[in-house]
Amino acid sequence: MTHVLHRTIAHRYPTAVSGQGIFIRDETGKDYIDASGGAAVSCLGHSHPDIIGAMRAQLDKLEYAHTSFFTSQAAEELADDLVAHAPKGLGHAFFVSGGSEAIEAALKLARQYFVERAEPQRRFLIARRQSYHGVTLGALAVGGREWQRRPFAPLLIETHHVSPVYEYRERRADETSEAYGERLAAELNAKIEELGGANVIAFVAETVVGATMGVVPAVPGYFKRVREMCDRHGILLILDEVMCGMGRTGTLHACEQEGVSPDILAIAKGLGGGYAPIGATLMHDRIFKAIADGSGAFQHSHTYTGHPLACAAALAVQRVIRRDDLLANVREQGALLARRLQERFGNHPFVGNVRGRGLFQGLEIVADRGTKEPFDPQRKLHARIKREAMARGLMVYPMGGTVDGARGDHVLLAPPFIIDSGAIDTIVERLGEAIDAAIDG
Ligand SMILES: Cc1ncc(COP(=O)(O)O)c(C=O)c1O
Repeated sequence: MTHVLHRTIAHRYPTAVSGQGIFIRDETGKDYIDASGGAAVSCLGHSHPDIIGAMRAQLDKLEYAHTSFFTSQAAEELADDLVAHAPKGLGHAFFVSGGSEAIEAALKLARQYFVERAEPQRRFLIARRQSYHGVTLGALAVGGREWQRRPFAPLLIETHHVSPVYEYRERRADETSEAYGERLAAELNAKIEELGGANVIAFVAETVVGATMGVVPAVPGYFKRVREMCDRHGILLILDEVMCGMGRTGTLHACEQEGVSPDILAIAKGLGGGYAPIGATLMHDRIFKAIADGSGAFQHSHTYTGHPLACAAALAVQRVIRRDDLLANVREQGALLARRLQERFGNHPFVGNVRGRGLFQGLEIVADRGTKEPFDPQRKLHARIKREAMARGLMVYPMGGTVDGARGDHVLLAPPFIIDSGAIDTIVERLGEAIDAAIDG
C-alpha cells in the first residue's frame, strides 16, 4: 500500500534506486537505458560527478536565502551565463522551479508589460492546438491538449488557438513546405485581426512541439513570418523551449535554427538536467525596462525563486555542456540516431513518419502507412509500447492523441547528450522489438 498519489493510481511503478550515466537501476537490480531523459530532462545522464560536486560545494556554503532579503552568487552567475548565450535582446532571467512556472511567469510578464505601457486593453492570448505548456491554470489555458483542458475549462483564461505546424498530415500535396508555412502564418494573422491587433498580448508556441505530437519541428520560414505578424501588431512572441531548448536540438536554443528571437523564452528541463527543479523565463530588455521604469517590480514571485542550490546545479550543468562540447555530440549522435531510426523504421509497415532535430526524435505510429490512418485509440498502443520497452530495459516516452488529442500514437526519444553510437544502436534495436511486440500483442 502506497500513500503517494501516483500518476496512474492502479499502476505499479518500479522503484528507481540509482542512476549512472545513461542508466537507471530499479530495486531488483534491473538497468534501463534512459533514452528519453525521463521527459527530455536528463541531458547529462545520471550521477554526473561534476554536478554533484558543484551542488555539494553550494550546500557547504548556503542552502537557501529568500529573495526578498538577498540575492545569491549562484543566481547571479546563472543569470549572467544564460544572458551571455541568450537569443538577441534577452537580457534578464526570472528563476522558477519548472516548466509550468516558467510559462505562468511568461504570461504574467507579458500582461504586466502592457499594463506598464498603458495598454490595459490587451487581454487575449493566442496559442496553438496540439501544444503542451504545462498543467497550472495559465499554462493549461494556453496549452492545446483538449482532453486535458476540458475538465478545467470554466477556470481557464481566454485563449484562442490556431493550427499547429504538422507537415506530415496537414501540408497539402500541391503545396511546398514554405507555402504551407505561409498558409499557417496567414491563419494566425486572420486570428489577430479578428481579435483586434491592439487587444492581443502574445502568441505562444513551442519552437519544436514535444510531448503532444511527438517532436514536430516547424517548416522553413514559418517562425520568421510569425515574428513579422507579431511585430506588425505589437504582440509579444513567447517561445516555450521547456522541452526542446537548452541544447536538445543541437543548438542551445531551438529558435536559433529558425532565425528568430522571441520577446520571452521559457526554459526548464535541460537547464538543470534533473539535478534540481529549475526553470527560467528570459525576457527582452524592452520588457525589463518597461517594468523597471514603471512600477519597478514584477508582480510575481515564489518562495523558491532563484533557489541557490538549484541555480548552482543548473550553472554546473551548463558549464559542463560547454566544457565538454556536448552540443557537437548532440548534433553528431542526433544525426546517427535519425539515420538509424530511418533504417529501422523507414519502411516499417506501422511507422508513418520519423522526424526530429538533434537528440530529439519522434516516430508516429500508424495502422496504415498509405492512408496514415491511426490505430484504434482503444488499443492504447502507446501504453503497450512503453510497457514492452520497459520490459526490455528501455525508457522511451510514448504518448497517444498525436493527431487530434484523441487519435494517434507516437514515441519520443530524448537521450542524454553524453550518448555514444553503441548505445544508439541498442536503443533502436530494443525500440524496434518493443514496437513490434506491442502491435502483435
Ligand atoms: C513544452 C513544455 N512546456 C511546459 C512544460 C511543463 O513543464 P513542467 O512539467 O516542468 O511543469 C512541459 C513539460 O513537459 C513541456 O514539454
